[in-house]
Parts: sequence; C-alpha cells; structure tokens
Amino acid sequence: MTTSYSPTPLITSGIERVRDYVLGLDEPAAWRAEELESRRSTWDLALTDGESAMLGELAEEATEKFGQWSAGNGSREQWKQLATPLAKYFSTVEHSLEGGTGIALLRNLPVRTADAELPYNENLLWLIGAAIGQPVNQMGGGTLLASLAQREKARPDHVRPENTNEGLGFHTDGSDLLMLMCIRQAMVGGNSVVSSSARTVKEIARRYPELLPALFEDYFPFDRQMEILDGDTTYYLSRLCTIVDGKITTRYVRSLMDGALYRGDCPPLTERQMRLMDVFDEISNEGGIEVGFGSGDMVIANNYSVMHGRSEFIDSEDETQRRLLVRLWLAMENGRPLPFDFDRGVNHDGVARGGVPYINVC
Ligand SMILES: [Fe+2]
Repeated sequence: MTTSYSPTPLITSGIERVRDYVLGLDEPAAWRAEELESRRSTWDLALTDGESAMLGELAEEATEKFGQWSAGNGSREQWKQLATPLAKYFSTVEHSLEGGTGIALLRNLPVRTADAELPYNENLLWLIGAAIGQPVNQMGGGTLLASLAQREKARPDHVRPENTNEGLGFHTDGSDLLMLMCIRQAMVGGNSVVSSSARTVKEIARRYPELLPALFEDYFPFDRQMEILDGDTTYYLSRLCTIVDGKITTRYVRSLMDGALYRGDCPPLTERQMRLMDVFDEISNEGGIEVGFGSGDMVIANNYSVMHGRSEFIDSEDETQRRLLVRLWLAMENGRPLPFDFDRGVNHDGVARGGVPYINVC
C-alpha cells in the first residue's frame, strides 16, 4: 500500500495485516443500529413489578441502615450486599455491558418524581450502582453522584453542556461505565442516543485503512476543562483506540479535543489526525440509534465500546416538572485490561480506575 504519511511502526509492519486483524475480531459490541434492535432482549431489561417493588424496599432499607449515600456510613460492599436479592438481574446487566452489546437499558425502576424525593432517588441510584461497580469521581469539584437538569449556571464560570437543553454529540465519558437514571423526562426530546464505537473502528479499518496508524498510534490532546491539578498541562494526550485481549477499546470526546485546540496550548494536529476525527464523527453518526428513555428508565453504557449522546429537548415551564436525571460513573469489578497511557492514566481517582482528579474549585 502506498501512503503519503511518514513511516510509523504500524505502517512499517503492514497496515493490511492490522486491517484484517481488526475486521476479524469477534466483537459483540460492534453492532449496527438494526443489529442492536434485533438483539433487544439481551439489553432491554425491564424489572417485573414485583422486582421493582423489592428494589424500592431495598433502597428504603439502605437509607435506614446507612443514611444518605453521601454520609459515607456504608461501604460499597455493604450496599452491594443489600442488593443481593436482585443479584441475578444485575448479573444479566453486567454481562450485557462487558461481553454483550456494551449497553443496558434498565426499565421499571421505582423512581419517585417529586423534587422532595431526590434523596430517595439518589440512594436508589447508589444502590444500583454499588451492585454493578465502584463509583468514581466525575467532576473536578469532587462529585460522585451528579444531578443533571437545565440550569443557567452549574458552576460559577462554567456551564457544562449536560446542564443545558442542547443536543450532545456522540462521545465517551471518562470511566468504565456511565449510568444515567431518568427521574423526569422533558416535554419533547431528551432521549439517549448511542452508537457503537467498536463498529466505528471496524468501519474505519474497512473503508479507510490508511487512517489506522492515526487511530492506534497517534496521541490526541483532550482539554482538562477545570479539572487541572497543580503542575498539570491544560490538556492531556491519549490515543483514541487500543486493542487489548481482543477487545476494541476507544475514547473519543470531540468537544474536549476541539476545546484543547481552541485553547491553543497543545501541539497542533496533523493532517491525518484531523481527517481521522472527521471520519470518526461521520461513521459514528451513521450508526446512531435513539433509545427511548423515560421516567424510571436507566441507560448504562460501557464507555470503551459504546458512545452516547442525547437529543435536544424542550422543558416544561413548570420547574417542578423539568427534566431531571441522576448520574454515576463506575469502575467495573472485572473491567477489561487497559494500557496505562490510555486516557490520562487508568487510576488517578485513588479508589478505582477512571474518573477525574479531584480538586476543590471553591
Ligand atoms: Fe457523557
């Protein structure tokens, strides 16, 4: 194969062999939208009414025993222990997330929609989270459990996009799993959209093999937003894809990559890197599917296999009826192996891998 790009290890060892290897991987999370639909019974996992009532009682029991999740009176193991009666259900969820499609849609959860019930809903989320993984920090200010709603100002000088009504493009979050529980949905829109990044990687191999060196070997700058510890650069460098143990593993957040370039502290991108980002977006958008997501539903995505976003939404004028979600980032117990240089290092939370460094932003 001829290429206008400079030699790199992958180019000199044979792009065709790498392409064939990627295309030959048996990757259950590399689905097209139609395939995801045809496999719905493996990932669309509704609780029965009896199980739902039991889960609500377990959340109440947890509150009696440990108080509010944030009080720290119960370890993750103790919370997980309480969820044992539903262990089989959560095991099916975990299998779908690692070894299946890479997503799970939990339905018929016993959420309560009144604002005053937020503490109950948070403990319910914490209980489900503890059954599946270890919560890790998701924002620079030290946030293990976040409420997402349309707000004017989420933090003094920075409104995070998830706290607006904007649509969000496909991206991955900085942890093994993203867990989003819907307490109230918007009047119009606000659905979750997902796209298999494993499929995107396979399609890049099929259609644009000349971009594989950029995909597997190049480091891309990601803006740290406000999550900058003393002495850190304003960006970090990460590869977009790695394959360990035969698993296609990606990180892709176009907004943070554009943010790093806009800030201008990082090295400029090469022509092949810019081309790869555009191709990545194009193929991911082709493969997207909207997942219905209403009150009592929860979407969980394996960030290494599946990208997520959301559709724009129109909220109610009545503040008590506005869209409200709660979110956890989780490290899985038996997560796939990752190289240390993937993302910004795989264990900087101090508790489990993933998450962002904690800083006090006050
Ligand atoms: Fe996200």
